[in-house]
Amino acid sequence: MTNQKIEEKIELLLSRMTIEEKVGQMVQRGSAKEENVAKDKENIKAGKIGSILNTGDAKEVNAYQRLAVEESRLGIPLIIGHDVIHGFLTTFPIPLAQACSWDLDLIEEAEAIAAKEAATAGIRWTFSPMVDVARDARWGRVAEGAGEDAYLGSMIAKARVRGFQRLNEDGYPTVAACVKHFAGYGAAEGGRDYSSAEISERTMRDIYLPPFKAAIDAGCLTLMAAFHDVSGVPCSGSKFLLTDVLVKEWGFDGFVLSDWGSVNELESHGVAANRSDAGKLAAEAGIHMDMHENTYQENLKDLLEAGLISQECIDNAVRRVLRVKFALGLFEKPYTDESLAEKVNLCDAHVKCALELARESVVLLKNEKKTLPLRDDVKKIGVIGPMSDSGNAMLGCWQSWGKEESIVTIFQGIKQKISKDVAIEYARGCEFYDESVQDFSEAIKVAQNSDIVIMSLGEGAGYSGENRNRMSLGLPGQQQNLLEAIHKIGKPIVLVVAAGRPLSISWAKEHVQAIVYAWHLGNQAGNAIADVLFGDFNPSGKLAMTIPRSVGQSPIFYNKKNFGKPTIVGYIDGEATPLYPFGYGQSYTTFQYSDLVLSSGTMKKNGEIKVSVNLKNTGKMAGEEIVQLYVRDLVGSVARPIKELKGFEKLSLKKGEQKTVTFSLKAKDLGLYGLDNRYIVEKGDFKLWVGPNSDEGLEADFKLI
Ligand code: NOJ
Repeated sequence: MTNQKIEEKIELLLSRMTIEEKVGQMVQRGSAKEENVAKDKENIKAGKIGSILNTGDAKEVNAYQRLAVEESRLGIPLIIGHDVIHGFLTTFPIPLAQACSWDLDLIEEAEAIAAKEAATAGIRWTFSPMVDVARDARWGRVAEGAGEDAYLGSMIAKARVRGFQRLNEDGYPTVAACVKHFAGYGAAEGGRDYSSAEISERTMRDIYLPPFKAAIDAGCLTLMAAFHDVSGVPCSGSKFLLTDVLVKEWGFDGFVLSDWGSVNELESHGVAANRSDAGKLAAEAGIHMDMHENTYQENLKDLLEAGLISQECIDNAVRRVLRVKFALGLFEKPYTDESLAEKVNLCDAHVKCALELARESVVLLKNEKKTLPLRDDVKKIGVIGPMSDSGNAMLGCWQSWGKEESIVTIFQGIKQKISKDVAIEYARGCEFYDESVQDFSEAIKVAQNSDIVIMSLGEGAGYSGENRNRMSLGLPGQQQNLLEAIHKIGKPIVLVVAAGRPLSISWAKEHVQAIVYAWHLGNQAGNAIADVLFGDFNPSGKLAMTIPRSVGQSPIFYNKKNFGKPTIVGYIDGEATPLYPFGYGQSYTTFQYSDLVLSSGTMKKNGEIKVSVNLKNTGKMAGEEIVQLYVRDLVGSVARPIKELKGFEKLSLKKGEQKTVTFSLKAKDLGLYGLDNRYIVEKGDFKLWVGPNSDEGLEADFKLI
């Protein structure tokens, strides 16, 4: 990003700025409460606020911007931020669902659309992508990320940054991306949001950091520090993470934002005695902008004057913030065209992309006796369950500006799909969360009248996301009882699960005929699900996160390490294997893998081998398959995972068609963080698998020499 001309402009500005104005660039305000707004406006005019989040439409943003540009002494524009996490007005599937598509181009496109829509409201900065590797489905924020795998997560992180930062018509990034939450936030103890994580440096580097590095390598302009502490060091005061790794090792030249109040929370963590100490600790660790809580505004000037913080520390932060403002073209074009929103938001092209991504995100988990797609002889359909007609649930955990009325519900999607001679009846059956005994009689009647029942169950939008953790992973409320009551009627059941996390649906796996895992799919949820149910779209999604049998297995993930007693891996009261493994997902067609060929059985230390496999569509219809390449390092200086994803390719094959898929496996990607936590590539024996999920595949051996 660094560019000579811009650097000169930054230095010139810096030389003219007072300490108040400098600190101002390090202050972000979340204008929520009415009584704060007037004060914030005065502060913007005084150059004491550099950014705001969660604003209104373009008109409101322009009004704020005018205060900064036309009424402040130096006219430095504001940077306006907002959480555009899975769409702005066009709501896309939640990020975890999107990850199940493994479709990098489509994910990139969705983010480009989200950015374009957000920019119509003057939002030039999104607090996304969230790249926290998540292995514990109890944690509510699993919905926001790309699941449990660092490699898949890294590829998706890059795609999202490319999408958000795609250049606008003026040649500037449409919005700046902000990769978060740095780092290891997904490892919160017990899945409890904000709580401590115990992560060794090796695991941090091996598992949690790669998606951040990938985002930075893709040019991500900003980064957000996490709320929690890692092994006792709160991330928002971690010089190790924010300076040593991020700046010194990775060469990041954008700026770091705290999370909401995470600077002043250093006091609650007990690593700072008061807010002033907290400000000093965070600024020196490498937080360049303080989100909302004013700890910097109140303390940095005094700290500087008392000689407790250096001028360089403040100047460095200001340079970084200004650099991003220049990169976005805010100095040249601070205002937003107020007529754009109407033309851009929710336009046909955007809704089409939302439909495509929603379809690709659906994971077919079970399809006994080809229950799906529904055949023409199905004449009476019963639609049951609280998810069936809920638009709000499908809006997901970060609703942004999305509107419930714009969502196509499952019931609506099915109704639009069926022909006139098909009868359809609907009963809600029960509420999402109400634990009290409920009257299922209406739902039972609907089931009795039907040839097949489509039951849509799961979690509403507010059951996942920030601080929405769970201590059970079953269907909430009375939904399991409803499912069992309907099952007793004896009609075939297609279960559609819509949730913000993997739910342990062990009973359903044993008893219902088909399971479609749909997550929260956004705007086009109902159409996408109906397309899948009726075979207008052949499902191809693969789980980006393991589905556990029971909550007691949490955390659970495929790339666990080999350990001393590999055969003793269970519980006395249940199995240790997942209900559905990472990478798993069925199709209406079948694929045959054959002829796994390695270009060589040995790989040089700086070399690579080609791994190819033949894939044939052996079923009766066209379909997409996500071919996955896994590797295992058999002997390392530290214990290695039993499998690690190292490549994937999504391809579509017509009926009977076959294709060869070739991966380049490079030695440099097969390294590990050794005893001294440094990355090394070690020679030795490896196994690899190419297959349809983390549990199955053709196997081969090679040696790294
Ligand atoms: C707190 C959340 O942790 C973060 O992800 C979000 O971007 C900020 N709030 C701003 O809304």
